[in-house]
Amino acid sequence: MSLKQVMSALAVSSVLSLPALASDYLDTSTSFSDENKNTKTRVIFVPEGTTVELPEWSGSDVNAVSRAAEIEEFKGEASQLTTVIAPEDTKANHLLLAGVGNPAELSRFEAEKLGASIAAALKPELESVVFDTRLISNPGIAAELSAHIAHGIDLRNYRFDRYQSEPKERPQTAYHWLVKSPDMAEKKYLASRAIAEGVFVARDITALPGSDGYPEAIVKLAQEAMKDLNIELTIVTPEQVDEMGMGLLKSVSQGSQHGSYLLAAHYKGSNADPIALVGKGNTFDTGGYNLKTSSSSILRMQTDKAGAGAVIGAVMALAAQEAPVNVVAVAPLSHNLISGSATLPGDVVKAGDGTLVEIANTDAEGRLILGDGNWYANDKFKPRAIANIATLTGSKVGALGTGYAALFASQDDLRSAIIEAGNITGEKVWELPLEGYDGIIDSPLADIRNIGSPGTQAGAAFLKHFAGDTPWIHIDMAADAMVSSDTGIHPAGPTGFGVRLLTEWVHQLEN
Ligand code: BES
Ligand code: MN
Ligand code: ZN
Repeated sequence: MSLKQVMSALAVSSVLSLPALASDYLDTSTSFSDENKNTKTRVIFVPEGTTVELPEWSGSDVNAVSRAAEIEEFKGEASQLTTVIAPEDTKANHLLLAGVGNPAELSRFEAEKLGASIAAALKPELESVVFDTRLISNPGIAAELSAHIAHGIDLRNYRFDRYQSEPKERPQTAYHWLVKSPDMAEKKYLASRAIAEGVFVARDITALPGSDGYPEAIVKLAQEAMKDLNIELTIVTPEQVDEMGMGLLKSVSQGSQHGSYLLAAHYKGSNADPIALVGKGNTFDTGGYNLKTSSSSILRMQTDKAGAGAVIGAVMALAAQEAPVNVVAVAPLSHNLISGSATLPGDVVKAGDGTLVEIANTDAEGRLILGDGNWYANDKFKPRAIANIATLTGSKVGALGTGYAALFASQDDLRSAIIEAGNITGEKVWELPLEGYDGIIDSPLADIRNIGSPGTQAGAAFLKHFAGDTPWIHIDMAADAMVSSDTGIHPAGPTGFGVRLLTEWVHQLEN
């Protein structure tokens, strides 16, 4: 074994010796039943204007809770949360009143956010909690809301604590849902649980530090995470990347001891032509020789693989749901580092499709690996549509901040489906134009070059070149991969942005 091989073998095993994936996301459990239980904490969902009154309560219990609600100005408005000390014979210590407004009108995302704020309000060490939906009169609506709220709780309870010697603050609670239609609630919950697990894999991939989460390690992680699912996984090694002529993908890792890989994860749940989700998996972005020279711009560039996490997570979610869709995740994986063998600014590199590309800036690497990713997706899968998703440009952050991801779309049906998916999931997108920017990536030296102005459009134009005639969308999710403090369904840390959006997009296209 060469020194290089020894080093990479060591690093891989250090990742794999971390707590096992897939089984380790949550320490909570969730069950649905139409039988009541006694627990110290009871969460009661209250439609607006409804008296908080449970059948087993005495008249004085009802009066005590009504008085507490009134003092706290709790009216049952959507998202209103109030904790009250439980009256003596309700067999609980605390009641958490959770307003649902008009339950028929509470959207899926509002319900998820309500779940997240309930999760944040419950102490992690609570042994068990009952979620009481009896005040919601329509059993179908109660079942649906339960599933969405439970999903929001799961999303908020995730912790990336693999690097803590004694993981703290991991919720340990058994959640019991009291619903009139438990089977229906559970079925809907399991569909969203599949999505949550995809989100968790995406978050893990996003957060893994740059020295542990290099291309080969991400391949192993994905392999492990997908092993029980009906997914055909293709792993293209650095040697094969080279043999197949994917010079763009190869060039980005040239300064690293870890070569570029490409992973394709195919879930074939229908006989339609596949939809290809092609996500940026740059496992660390130093910028290369166009080095990121400020400490704030280089820090957290391990999140530059969040696009790969999003496509892997989305395909896992669809496979776990056994959805009737044909979808493939393509994740080009690179490690954009510096050394004597790194690509130099001004080098010309040949892409998989033969295009000669001037690498005018080594920090515009995402479009390079995705360019070959799009070519690979077209060449091997003949997809009916390609979606790119990437932490691609700083200009996106300047234009839209983190409230929206930037969207580009070549086709009306793809565009309206992704905007709808964004509104449903709360992972919102805002379209930027690509018309009128002809010549934006023209090169004086080669066929095209990898930069242009404005920056977000130049990135998009480059990706579109490699999508060819295939109907295409592109989502620039720069700065959406990580949050620095707890926000809604996201605990501080990696968000898994894109899993819920793309999963819903694929469902929308199937309808
Ligand atoms: N990964 C970055 C984009 C990024 C910036 C993501 C900030 C998240 C937060 C990307 O590879 C990059 O470096 N883009 C450059 C391109 C430029 C050199 C043309 C940018 O946008 O500054
Ligand atoms: Mn870069
Ligand atoms: Zn990057």
